[in-house]
Amino acid sequence: MTIEDRYRQRYKSGDTPWDIGQADFNLIEVVTGKPIVSCKTLDIGCGTGDNSIWLAQNRFQVFGTDTSDVALEKAREKASKANVECEFILVDFMNNHVEGAPFGFVFDRGCFHSFGAGDERKRFAQNIAAHLEEGGLWLTIAGNADENRRSPGPPQWTAGDIVLAVEPYFEILSLKTSHFGSNSQNPPRAWRCLMKKRHV
Ligand SMILES: C[S@@+](CC[C@H](N)C(=O)[O-])C[C@H]1O[C@@H](n2cnc3c(N)ncnc32)[C@H](O)[C@@H]1O
Repeated sequence: MTIEDRYRQRYKSGDTPWDIGQADFNLIEVVTGKPIVSCKTLDIGCGTGDNSIWLAQNRFQVFGTDTSDVALEKAREKASKANVECEFILVDFMNNHVEGAPFGFVFDRGCFHSFGAGDERKRFAQNIAAHLEEGGLWLTIAGNADENRRSPGPPQWTAGDIVLAVEPYFEILSLKTSHFGSNSQNPPRAWRCLMKKRHV
C-alpha cells in the first residue's frame, strides 16, 4: 500500500491524531516572527486545511494540495465556514506539478516527513524548489528522532536526514527543535526547518 493510500484510509476511519482543529503554533511563530510577508503560498499535504485557512486569514493567497478527497472535502467546508478563500486541489505532489506556480512560500506539516527513503525526500525537496520563485521560502514541520518513544506517532528523522535531502536545493535559514502543535498532553517532538531556495 502506498503512503497516499494509507493516509486516505486513515481519513476515512477517522484515525488522524495530527488533525488538531487549529493552525500549528510553529507556523504562526515563524510567519509572524520572521515575518514572512503575505504572498502566493502552497500548503502541501494540507489535510483538513487548518494551516491553509490561518494563512488565508492572514492575507496569503493559498493553494492547498492533498491526495485524500475526504480531507479536502473537510477543508473546503472549514474554509467556507470561516468565510475565507483557499483553493484546495486533489493532487499527488510527488508526481505532479501544481498549477499556480511559482509560489513565494511553501509550507508542509507532516508531508515531507512521510517519505521513508532518502531519495524520495530529496525528490520532494527538488519538486518544492521547482514550485518556488527565486529566493522563495519553505517551512517544514517534521518528526524528530531525538525522542525515545514507545507509542505510535509521527515518523522520526534526524537533523542529518533533513539536511541531506534539502541542502542541494535549499539554504537552511534555521533548523530548530520543537514539538508538534497537538491536543495531547505529551506532544510529539518535531523539527521546524525554514529554508530559502538556492540560486542556481
Ligand atoms: C500527517 S498528515 C498532515 C496533514 C496536515 N498538513 C495537517 O497538519 O493536519 C500528512 C498529509 O500529507 C498528505 N499526503 C501524503 N502524500 C501526499 C502526496 N504525495 N501529495 C500530496 N499530499 C500528500 C496526506 O494525505 C496527509 O493529509
